[in-house]
Amino acid sequence: MRYAIETHDLSKRFHGMYAVRHLDMHVPEGAIYGFIGENGSGKSTTEKLVCGLLVPERGSEIRLYGRPVDDAQVRARMGVLIENPGCFPDSTVFQNMFMQAMNLGLCNPGEEVERALGAVRMTGAANRKFGQCSLGMKQRIGVAQALMGHPRLLILDEPINGLDADGMRIVRETLLRVNREEGVTILISSHILGELSKIATHYGILREGTLVQEVLANQVRERSKEYVLVRTSDDRAAYRLLRERADRVEPDEDGLRVYGQTDSAAIATALFQAGISVSHIELRRVGLEEYYIDAVSDGRRQ
Ligand SMILES: Nc1ncnc2c1ncn2[C@@H]1O[C@H](COP(=O)(O)OP(=O)(O)O)[C@@H](O)[C@H]1O
Ligand SMILES: [Mg+2]
Repeated sequence: MRYAIETHDLSKRFHGMYAVRHLDMHVPEGAIYGFIGENGSGKSTTEKLVCGLLVPERGSEIRLYGRPVDDAQVRARMGVLIENPGCFPDSTVFQNMFMQAMNLGLCNPGEEVERALGAVRMTGAANRKFGQCSLGMKQRIGVAQALMGHPRLLILDEPINGLDADGMRIVRETLLRVNREEGVTILISSHILGELSKIATHYGILREGTLVQEVLANQVRERSKEYVLVRTSDDRAAYRLLRERADRVEPDEDGLRVYGQTDSAAIATALFQAGISVSHIELRRVGLEEYYIDAVSDGRRQ
């Protein structure tokens, strides 16, 4: 497996405190890697380390396509949006981006700015002063900046914060398109899990600077099947009985999770006939949100 980003024992401390600790992270080529974790869990710090904007602790290793982060070839093919787009408020969007395109050494800066703005449907804002753009527009401009120069690797820190539904859809479609058509690998952090789950192929879950889990989106989806939650007078007996009728039965703090048999009436009847009374029964669905909470709360699924 070739990784666009691979870290080994990656750590970073601020004032002696670990912001990121001993991360072994693997972002395969072609992945859309959703980076999730609560505020302060180390997402931005990790992304800055990967971009070479921060220097890690000694002993840390970061490889981008097998090369070190300061490799000029790799750096040239990396598009980054971390925190904010870093624009001059009194210059227009076009002027700001044109300057950045020049800094990137692009040979056709004007066209590249047009193309990138077009990709996030922001062509109409080209002549507006950056300072007069809404938060949502600034976010889209930030994504456009990251797209300039046809990067092979995109690193986007919370790019969909502050976007309305339409803005989110545009960014989502753009990211999916560059990923599918141009094979761009994307590392994207977000706490908007519902939106992230529409595009991510992989997830990295951070808690207090530690990578709790790396998981395929398909595995999360597999787990995201519907299940029936049932609470009974005798969960042990219910477990034995239901195990034979369902694909899988798992104890849960609220009772038992029954997978593969979502007819709750049939479950209730079977339990009743066996002399087990049901105090609660409901159909539920595990999404990324619940998966994530499980992963960070007790590491049961590690
Ligand atoms: N430049 C900095 N100086 C001191 N502490 C920092 C700095 N940047 C981040 N931190 C601390 O590192 C931890 C991780 O922060 P961050 O990576 O921004 O988390 P996230 O992006 O997941 O919200 C936090 O405790 C934060 O306060
Ligand atoms: Mg952050």
